[in-house]
Amino acid sequence: MSIIKKLVIRLLKSSISRYLDEAKLYKATANANPVRQFATWFDLAKQLDPEFANAMVLSTSSSSGQPSSRLVLLKDFDEHGFVFYTNYGSRKSCELADNPQANLVFWWKEVYRQVRVEGRVEKVSRAESEAYFATRVRGSQIGAWASRQSSTLEHRADLQKKIDAYEKKFKGQEVPCPPFWGGFRLLPHAIEFWQGRENRLHDRLRYLRTDFGTWEIERLSP
Ligand SMILES: Cc1cc2nc3c(=O)[nH]c(=O)nc-3n(C[C@H](O)[C@H](O)[C@H](O)COP(=O)(O)O)c2cc1C
Repeated sequence: MSIIKKLVIRLLKSSISRYLDEAKLYKATANANPVRQFATWFDLAKQLDPEFANAMVLSTSSSSGQPSSRLVLLKDFDEHGFVFYTNYGSRKSCELADNPQANLVFWWKEVYRQVRVEGRVEKVSRAESEAYFATRVRGSQIGAWASRQSSTLEHRADLQKKIDAYEKKFKGQEVPCPPFWGGFRLLPHAIEFWQGRENRLHDRLRYLRTDFGTWEIERLSP
């Protein structure tokens, strides 16, 4: 990262710490729409951590009820939901096939904020997955073909062999999106915004989706 970028981030951080003294989250001033509220918080988080503000913990659970969590990257979001991409044969994808209920958690330490999103997932359309896959760097595209994500691997060299084989196979041509790779969209029914405050007396606002597709907001104890 360039020195100028570091300086800009330091400046932003110092103004943020002053702002944190004043940080508050009230029903009256929060956006009535949680997706717009998310967009406001996410924009600031991205300014402070352009590389990883979109990292989110995704929790799924097996059919026996065993939860499992891992980080994935948020690649898109709107009124319909929150999108991430992965291997459809991975552990998370198998669990989501059995039980589409899932959770996301964002933690933006620079602004002392957490967002939790609860909902169920659907696969995104093939066209959407292919369009996103086309934007990835070639090395990641080849990697997506080579890795049977979550399966056991005897030696790292075995992975490298597969990478070499796919590089050869796709030499001189665009790498297509593997049929076993694509996106999921988490359709939220609850979104909680958590603003850290002094003495652990944090603000928590939970938005709950009504049967009419509107949102109700409730305040939770810290
Ligand atoms: C910062 C970060 C971002 C990641 N983003 C993704 C992602 O977008 N998609 C993905 O499949 N794995 C991503 N991973 C790897 C996952 O955490 C995980 O190791 C992988 O998806 C296999 O998980 P599973 O075996 O539970 O399916 C990321 C890891 C880190 C640390």
